[in-house]
Amino acid sequence: MFSERIASVPVSGTVSISDAVRQRRARGDEVIDLSVGEPDAATPDAVVAACEKALRDGATTYGPSQGIRPLREAIAGDHERLRGQPIDPDQVLVTPAKHALLEAFLVLLDDGDEVLIPSPAWVSYAPQVRLCGAQPVQVPVGDEGQVPVDEMRERANEDTQAVLVNSPSNPTGAVQTRETMAAVAEMAAEEDLTLVSDEVYGKLVYEGTFTSAAEVAPEDLEVVTVDGVSKAYAMTGWRIGWLTASPSFVQEALKVQQHSVTHPTLFAQHGAVEALQGDQGFVDRLREGFADRRDLVVDRLEAMGAQFPHPGGAFYVFARFPGVEDGGAFAHDLLDEAGVAVVPGEAFGPGGEGHVRLSYAVDRDTLERGLDRIEEVLT
Ligand SMILES: Cc1ncc(COP(=O)(O)O)c(C=O)c1O
Repeated sequence: MFSERIASVPVSGTVSISDAVRQRRARGDEVIDLSVGEPDAATPDAVVAACEKALRDGATTYGPSQGIRPLREAIAGDHERLRGQPIDPDQVLVTPAKHALLEAFLVLLDDGDEVLIPSPAWVSYAPQVRLCGAQPVQVPVGDEGQVPVDEMRERANEDTQAVLVNSPSNPTGAVQTRETMAAVAEMAAEEDLTLVSDEVYGKLVYEGTFTSAAEVAPEDLEVVTVDGVSKAYAMTGWRIGWLTASPSFVQEALKVQQHSVTHPTLFAQHGAVEALQGDQGFVDRLREGFADRRDLVVDRLEAMGAQFPHPGGAFYVFARFPGVEDGGAFAHDLLDEAGVAVVPGEAFGPGGEGHVRLSYAVDRDTLERGLDRIEEVLT
């Protein structure tokens, strides 16, 4: 009854943890949730106001499937500010970031094709590739979470269509250096691949400089950049993101959009225009708050003897604790014995074995209590 494709895809490892937390809280247990994948802040008031106005002004109908023009212009402006690369609004397709990735893979992949993905990596890349009938080739990253360019080059063959990068990374927080990003782009060009760069945490970098794939790519390389308002503007529930690519790539992705979601919610797009064009002080404050908690978590985990790639961005640490072999079993123990939720590293692919992902997108006090409890379980 069910397709082989759907059978090849697991449920999302992060969503199952959120469900477990919800169940425990519903039966009255106190849970410190360090598994969260979203900022602990409310969407800026001005963004909510812009959306409310749009709703009252009648933005409740169908709209243009590529996304409203003012938002595509705002995204082009944002792209140029963050990445130093001017683009045309025709190079923008508005859709939730997660869907943008799926659209990109559907444009690129046929049955049996392959995509190079660093491992560990965000939980949905490999399932999305499988849903397209293709194979994820998950290549382990080095200790510091840098993309393993040489190993990827060795794994590239005639079936390989694309390479995926995600900087800063979910789950490691690693920020790719300019050299690594340039080397990935060069490898992609040499092997005739498309470079899909997931940059949804690009504005949340605390150390070093964010390098976008688009900044360092050779001119003839197709780079599909994916970004959105979810993480930097505390707008995860709005479901507004985008991809930018060549106009011809965008036209192909548009076919997927037209035959699936049509376009993302119209009034939410008006809010996103305000997010990108209004006062950016919110993003600065969010970043400063995360940088502070990151320092705390790094110090505490180091004192516990944990090992992890240095998290320069996003809001995660991907840690291996002394004596822990099985990340899933450890995550269960933490939830059962200490009421602390973390995500098992195995959810992020073969490179995640033995690890757990901790999110520091919670207030300082909750974070400290969660770390105290983890320390108690370890001793
Ligand atoms: C690395 C990465 N890419 C993409 C997404 C999807 O973003 P959105 O929720 O804006 O669709 C997430 C969300 O957790 C993510 O962590």
